[in-house]
Amino acid sequence: MSDMKNRLNKEQTLLAPKLENIKFKALLDNALANYVVSEKHNNIPGILWGEERYQLERASSFRKLKQVQKDNIYTHLSRSNLALSWYIERSGHNYGAKMILLSDTQEEKSLYALFVAEEAIHQREFEHFMDFVPDPNLYWHPLLDPLAEAIREAERETCLYVIQVLLEGFGIGLYTSLKENCRLPELQRVYTRIINDEAKHHGSGVILTHSLTPNDLVKDQVFEYTRKFIQALKSADMMGKTLQREKKLTNKERTNFYEEIEYEKFINLRLLKLRSMLQKVDNWDLIDRLEKNNVFKYTI
Ligand SMILES: [Fe+2]
Ligand SMILES: [Fe+2]
Repeated sequence: MSDMKNRLNKEQTLLAPKLENIKFKALLDNALANYVVSEKHNNIPGILWGEERYQLERASSFRKLKQVQKDNIYTHLSRSNLALSWYIERSGHNYGAKMILLSDTQEEKSLYALFVAEEAIHQREFEHFMDFVPDPNLYWHPLLDPLAEAIREAERETCLYVIQVLLEGFGIGLYTSLKENCRLPELQRVYTRIINDEAKHHGSGVILTHSLTPNDLVKDQVFEYTRKFIQALKSADMMGKTLQREKKLTNKERTNFYEEIEYEKFINLRLLKLRSMLQKVDNWDLIDRLEKNNVFKYTI
C-alpha cells in the first residue's frame, strides 16, 4: 500500500514525465486512433476564449490596455483553460487506477477500467488543440493540489464523494461553460463528447454514494477536502492574476476591477451550484457543517 501511495504522488498524478518514451508513444497513438473524434489541429488560434467569455471590457483597467496586451491576457486565459482541462484528465488516470485496486467486485473494476480508458481519450482530445505542454509554474490551478492530495490520501468512499461526485460534477459545469463560448467549433465538439462521458462518471458516483453509510473518518475527510476544493476555487482568481501579468494594479484599481467584473457575484453563483450538487449526496450533516464554517460564502 505504501508503494501504491508513492506512485500516487502529485508528480505522478499531474506533472508531465521528464522523458517521452517513443515506443510507448507510437503504441498509444495506434491504440487511441479508433477512439478519438478530433484530429491534431495545426495553426491553433491563440485566443480560444475571449471577450465573449470574460467580458473584461467592463473593467476600466482592462479598457486602458493596448490591444496587444489584451490579446496576451486572452491567450494566457485560453491556455490556462486547456491546461486545467488536461490536468483534470491526467489525474483521472491515477484516480481510476486507485479505484480499480480498491474495488470489491469485478463489475466495479470493469466499470473503472472503462472510465480510465475514457480519461485517456479525453486527454488526447485536448492535446489535439494544444501546441504547448503546460508548465506548472505558468498554468497551475490551486484546485489541483487538493485533487492530487485526495487521490493519494483519501479513503475509497471519500474519493467517491469528493472526486467522482464533487470534482467530476464541477468538471461538467466547467466544460459546459467552456464549450458554450469557445471560438473553435471543432473544440466545442470535443467538449460535447467529453461532457457526455463525465456525466456518466459523475452520475455513477451519485448512485454509488446512495448505498453508503460513511463512518466518521470518511465524513471528516469529505468535509475537509470539500472545504479545500472550495477554498482553492475562491483563491484561483485567474482573471485578476492574468491581468496583473500585463499591468500591475494599485490597491484602488484592484478593488475597482473586481467590482466592475462583478467577481463576488460570479464566485457566489458558482458556490451555490456546488452546494446544490452536494445536496444530492448529503445524507448526514455535511452541508450544515460546511455552512457553519462559511465555506459557501465569498466576499472580496
Ligand atoms: Fe475525463
Ligand atoms: Fe471523468
